[in-house]
Amino acid sequence: MTGKACAVQQFELGVCYYPEQWPEAMWEDDYRRMRELGFTIVRMGEFAWNVFEPEEGVYDFGLFDRAIALAHRHGLKVILGTPTATPPAWLTHRHPEVLNASKEGVLYRHGMRRHYNYSSPVYREYCARITRSMAEHYADHPVVVGWQIDNELNCEIQVFYSEADHAAFRMWLQNKYGTLAALNEAWGTVFWNQGYSDWEQIHLTRPTPADSVNPHLALDEKRFISDNTISFARLQAQIIRELAPKQWITTNGLFGHLDSHALTGELLDFFSYDSYPNFSTIWNDADRDTPMLDRTVSSTLSRVRSISPNFCIMEQQSGPGGWVNRMAQPSPKPGQMRLWTYQSVAHGADMLLYFRWRTATFGTEIYWHGINDYHNRPNRRVAEAAAVGRELGRLGADIAGSRYAAEAAMVRDYANEWDGELDVWHGPLREESEYGWTKALQLAHIPFDFVYMREETALEELTRYKVLVYPHPAIMTERTADLLKQYVAGGGKLLFGARTGYKDERGHCRMAPFPGPVADLCGVTVEDFTLLNGADSAATPLSWVNGLSGTETPARAHRFNDILRPEADTAEVLAEYAADYYAGMPALTCNRYGSGEAYYYGAAYSREVAQALIGRLGLEPAAAGWCELPPEVEIAVRVKDGRRFAFLLNYANREVEARLLQEADDLLEGVRLAGGRLALPPYGVKVLELK
Ligand code: GAL
Repeated sequence: MTGKACAVQQFELGVCYYPEQWPEAMWEDDYRRMRELGFTIVRMGEFAWNVFEPEEGVYDFGLFDRAIALAHRHGLKVILGTPTATPPAWLTHRHPEVLNASKEGVLYRHGMRRHYNYSSPVYREYCARITRSMAEHYADHPVVVGWQIDNELNCEIQVFYSEADHAAFRMWLQNKYGTLAALNEAWGTVFWNQGYSDWEQIHLTRPTPADSVNPHLALDEKRFISDNTISFARLQAQIIRELAPKQWITTNGLFGHLDSHALTGELLDFFSYDSYPNFSTIWNDADRDTPMLDRTVSSTLSRVRSISPNFCIMEQQSGPGGWVNRMAQPSPKPGQMRLWTYQSVAHGADMLLYFRWRTATFGTEIYWHGINDYHNRPNRRVAEAAAVGRELGRLGADIAGSRYAAEAAMVRDYANEWDGELDVWHGPLREESEYGWTKALQLAHIPFDFVYMREETALEELTRYKVLVYPHPAIMTERTADLLKQYVAGGGKLLFGARTGYKDERGHCRMAPFPGPVADLCGVTVEDFTLLNGADSAATPLSWVNGLSGTETPARAHRFNDILRPEADTAEVLAEYAADYYAGMPALTCNRYGSGEAYYYGAAYSREVAQALIGRLGLEPAAAGWCELPPEVEIAVRVKDGRRFAFLLNYANREVEARLLQEADDLLEGVRLAGGRLALPPYGVKVLELK
């Protein structure tokens, strides 16, 4: 893993705290109890613009000065948020042009948060001023260790249609294309007479009949939003770097229409994530027999790790979540809060703050519960936090800086993610395939990473993995194709799914046999294809050939069927379609290429098809030879200086049993285990070090 890591000597555990929401008389007791729980760090300030600047140009740091001084006295470090996610009413009232707008041009008004746009020069000026005054004031404060820029850029809303955004989009396009002729070409505007003869005619997507938009414009819109978000963050990052060079900078993601890799690479010291696994209990899992639920968050954490190999969890769920009007979640069961904490740690967190210290008694989030209840008396969540505090106090220095180990990775890129939002002919496939692989790998106890394919991705970032799964890169540049060929030629195993390589980076379809620039790598072409969209034809039966076999009878090819024609002698057919007019035609192939293998599967990967392939790919369970694990348990291994820390996470609501095949130290209990039966209680966690 590359990327900028959060670098701490000792694990930092803490909590988000809002001193402005509580009587000052409570602060002392709050901090004292935080220290009792083993907390070392608090985040504050990110929504308190009015406290810092009650009137335009009038600054008042009194409240936060006192809150920070008291934190200092109690031995707590402080992360400060810039408050730009919540512009004051005095600002939006005076300058409504700073507000974001809906596609119809209706302004979003004061009363929520994130109702501003990134483009307004006026808003940027106000943000620069508040950031500058805070950075000047706190630059040399001994306990202010770092900054969070804004809060959750692109959360809640990730599209922007104010006048300022339309204007900024035009500028961005002029910069990208130079001439209208080039833009018209790239957007294929000859189709349906969409050509532009003046830059002023161009807008971000607007309401249209059938809500259909030019797909090339829609893709550029997302690229623009991402660049514009980064440019908004850059303004603050530059000010903080200049004025407070000893303090680090981060922000909390991971949200849409934002290249978080570019953001972090250019501006941040490391990336942070807000982990709320309880959302999974209110999402549907299509495959109800073994739902992944909160375990799917591990896949998201692996994406976070692709940005920062060690990261910060700026907000870790510490109770039931819910706004007054949405997101009604059940209470985490006893043990789940601790389990989710270790899920984050197992995946690479070296700093973790619970959200939040105490549930708010007013406002939209009165049901987004903190560790402490409204009554502020001891409860089971406080007890769980205390257990984590004790454990990480003991373990923290050992695991800090250790790195998650994986031999397989899933590959993603932003262009396909954004293009696939509009394009129903490839977009939905990615999620299905990633889910299929996540489930298969999780149940086989095989850890995996994510790799993002970017312009600057280097071969070394790929060759560290034995296996790469890049399920549906519909948009495939020649550069990416070349890089992937080098990876396979050097011995890597690469798997593609349906719709690979048929578009160029503008989103135009190639006038070439699919899979376009990787056809020679795969040794096949797509002879025919069909989208499966009817209730009775969402999946086509498969039959295995050449020794491959699966657990499901029959296995099925989901969502889309590319009917393959082997072109190279080195291409071997591993499965055929077993129904419809293409029965008997190849569905899954493997091509030997250099010292590696390139697989092409003509559909979206299901868990069963991924499972059937895992054995052939030579991937081993992380505990192979030393522990037998039940399916309910996830394993993650973090490695440092030759030491291996294995995290075993039981997501089930009942006790499950593993079998330890050799001696190990149980680091949470502080005992040596001889081997044999190893019970994990409901939602239980073990951290083992092998002897
Ligand atoms: C996050 C946000 C927090 C809080 C939390 C619960 O998205 O950063 O401020 O709102 O969710 O809703």
